[in-house]
Amino acid sequence: MKKVVLSFAAVLLSTAAVTAADDPISVRKALMQANAAAAAVSGAMMKGELEYNPAVARAAIANFNASAMALGDFFPEGSQTGGNTTAAPAIWENPEAFQQAVAKFQTDAAAAMQAAGRQGPADLAAFQAAVTPVLSNCSSCHEDFRVQN
Ligand code: HEC
Repeated sequence: MKKVVLSFAAVLLSTAAVTAADDPISVRKALMQANAAAAAVSGAMMKGELEYNPAVARAAIANFNASAMALGDFFPEGSQTGGNTTAAPAIWENPEAFQQAVAKFQTDAAAAMQAAGRQGPADLAAFQAAVTPVLSNCSSCHEDFRVQN
């Protein structure tokens, strides 16, 4: 289980490295990979596969929050294709709806940060209550704004 946490940290580091590369498709994919790693750690704790740890829980929530804040900047005009993107044309056809989805992710992640406090959620139940609304954004945004293969 240590491995899960380590890979989560590694993804966050690689996100920082890619951010410097000024390639919006790579950056948004890296942000999403970090989301996936944080979601995996969250899921492992909720399933009891990974012992609950408030600091790890807080790190996962902080990742969602950082990703939600950054995400919207990495879908500029001209990045509709290339780089194996699975971003759907709807993002550029209906930018207001996409910005709304990003804003909802931000609102839910900010609320989870608030609930987590400085020490992280006190117990698994508190973590679950804080993170579940955040995680609901993943599939709802993907349904509307990601090409399903
Ligand atoms: C506001 C919309 C939105 C939200 C919220 C969102 N995603 Fe995504 N996600 C996307 C889009 C758009 C893509 C396609 C990006 C691309 O290929 O350019 C994507 C791609 C991905 C990918 C594939 C990345 C790759 O390397 O190709 C993963 C994994 C992923 N998201 C996980 C998540 C998880 C986990 C969450 C929730 C914590 C989440 N996403 C929340 C829009 C969103």
